[in-house]
Amino acid sequence: MKTIHSARSMARELARLRKKGATVGFVPTMGFLHEGHLSLIRRARKDTDIVVVSIFVNPVQFGPREDYRRYPRDMRHDKRMCLREKVDYILYPGLKQMYPEGYSTYVEVQGLTSNLCGKFRPGHFRGVATIVMKLLNIVRPDKVYVGQKDAQQAIVIKRLAADLDTGARVVIVPTVREKDGLAMSSRNTYLSAAERGLAPTIYRALQEARLLIKSGNKDAHRIISKIRGQIINTVDGIDYISIVDTKDLVDIKRIEGEVLVAVAVWFGKTRLIDNIIVRP
Ligand code: PAF
Repeated sequence: MKTIHSARSMARELARLRKKGATVGFVPTMGFLHEGHLSLIRRARKDTDIVVVSIFVNPVQFGPREDYRRYPRDMRHDKRMCLREKVDYILYPGLKQMYPEGYSTYVEVQGLTSNLCGKFRPGHFRGVATIVMKLLNIVRPDKVYVGQKDAQQAIVIKRLAADLDTGARVVIVPTVREKDGLAMSSRNTYLSAAERGLAPTIYRALQEARLLIKSGNKDAHRIISKIRGQIINTVDGIDYISIVDTKDLVDIKRIEGEVLVAVAVWFGKTRLIDNIIVRP
């Protein structure tokens, strides 16, 4: 396993391997790797010859009052994990490498970014789309692996990869959960013991929503109210509880086809998101 800091060395190295016919699988991350990331890496390892994991906490996708500075970082742990999963390359660029002085180009995916987290984190998806496009240009993977946990991000990346002719296939991998149902996230480390104890109510409420939809309830508003009722007393704030079309992420009123049930809530200063896809 090699750790590479420069975009140019990474591109050169992969071009050499690609010439020999190797396929490249890419897992973009912000580090602090957990089982969720490992499931992406394992999938890439299974599918492709060369596995590249990028580790870069991208300041451009954090709002001015968000957690960029305190976002957890642990490169030694991440390297150990990657080594164990037989990753071939870690791309670990510095801030100046990704955003040198004078940097002025940004990528915006329209429409898909206006609802859900896009509403509450202005500029977030512009930051995600920009860094992901840059990374795709460097790595030029055959396949890129992203988690279902960040459902809107996954759909945005899929759109971006297609619209800008990257040639990369986006593979969305199911959410990995703790035993009690809490979706794995680097941000779970922020939770106090008490908050951690309450956090599984999110997934429990989503599962109840699944049952309601599966048993024929079609009124999105009613289901949203049920979810709200179940979590309102355990969370410190709700950004959204939404039921949207899985293709365009627009809110729906009557559930006829496949839907994404997505929530973003606060435990103290920690914002957690989770979602499920339900086919009635
Ligand atoms: O999901 C993440 O960790 C990040 O948003 C990503 C896709 C690596 C872009 O910085």
